[in-house]
Amino acid sequence: MASHPLSLSFLLLSVLISSVSSSSQPIIQLPTTTDRKSNIDDDLYCASWHLAVETNNAGSWKQIPTRCESFVQDYMTGPRYMSDSEIVANYSLAYAFSVEIGRNGKDAWVFDIDETLLTNLPYYQAHGFGSETFDENSWDVWVDLAEAPAIPASLKLYNELKQMGFKIFVLTGRSENQRNATAKNLLFAGYTDLDRLILRGPSDEGTLATVYKSEKRSDLVNEGYTIHGSSGDQWSDLLGFAVAKRSFKLPNPMYYVS
Ligand SMILES: *[C@@H]1O[C@H](CO)[C@@H](O)[C@H](O)[C@H]1NC(C)=O
Ligand SMILES: *[C@@H]1O[C@H](CO)[C@@H](O)[C@H](O)[C@H]1NC(C)=O
Repeated sequence: MASHPLSLSFLLLSVLISSVSSSSQPIIQLPTTTDRKSNIDDDLYCASWHLAVETNNAGSWKQIPTRCESFVQDYMTGPRYMSDSEIVANYSLAYAFSVEIGRNGKDAWVFDIDETLLTNLPYYQAHGFGSETFDENSWDVWVDLAEAPAIPASLKLYNELKQMGFKIFVLTGRSENQRNATAKNLLFAGYTDLDRLILRGPSDEGTLATVYKSEKRSDLVNEGYTIHGSSGDQWSDLLGFAVAKRSFKLPNPMYYVS
């Protein structure tokens, strides 16, 4: 038989195929959702994704990755979220103790509301933990209920800061027409006696969160306040101008506000 190049390569291919199929080890393992290994892969990936989100390495993002839905659920409903929130409050308090409080009543601390003073977990639990597209209507209904609970560690920090003599300013992206519901909710959650509640007024509509919050902090600085600390779950609560001397980032793997 003439050694034709094509038949030679066909022969080599046949040998290759037969050696592969006779091998007990499959070459490619297709992952399935019931595969333990793929669950471990998801846990590992989602823990890394979460760190990237918290550090803002991920930048702007819209929805949590589908493969991380149960990771986010476990994180938010398990002990980790409370522990992470608590350690942020502990470091905040340790820093607050290092601040020398003056007699002029101008030492300030700025708090964001959602996922900072209050947790909207009951709402997000009913809306896929951030895996669904944000729905303004159902969100507004939830805000009007005024039943978001306090994050316990934040409430404790709030009370300690008040006792130390800090002026507490609450600065939120919520709109001015949600003032009553928001004030009612803060009271319901135990935040009594806050010094000022700042919401988005008509002239703030359409302003990026970072700019809006910086402008309001700048107003406080112009009033003579020293902003020693700022607490928020979003980088847009903390970055920009007129930033606090120390900023404290609370965890939030459910949504991003740019
Ligand atoms: C935070 O501080 C409190 C009081 O000192 C302590 O009991 C708690 O264990 C601390 N939490 C964490 C997560 O370190
Ligand atoms: C808020 O409450 C005050 C007094 O209770 C009322 O006059 C005002 O109309 C309310 N504002 C809104 C936006 O509901």
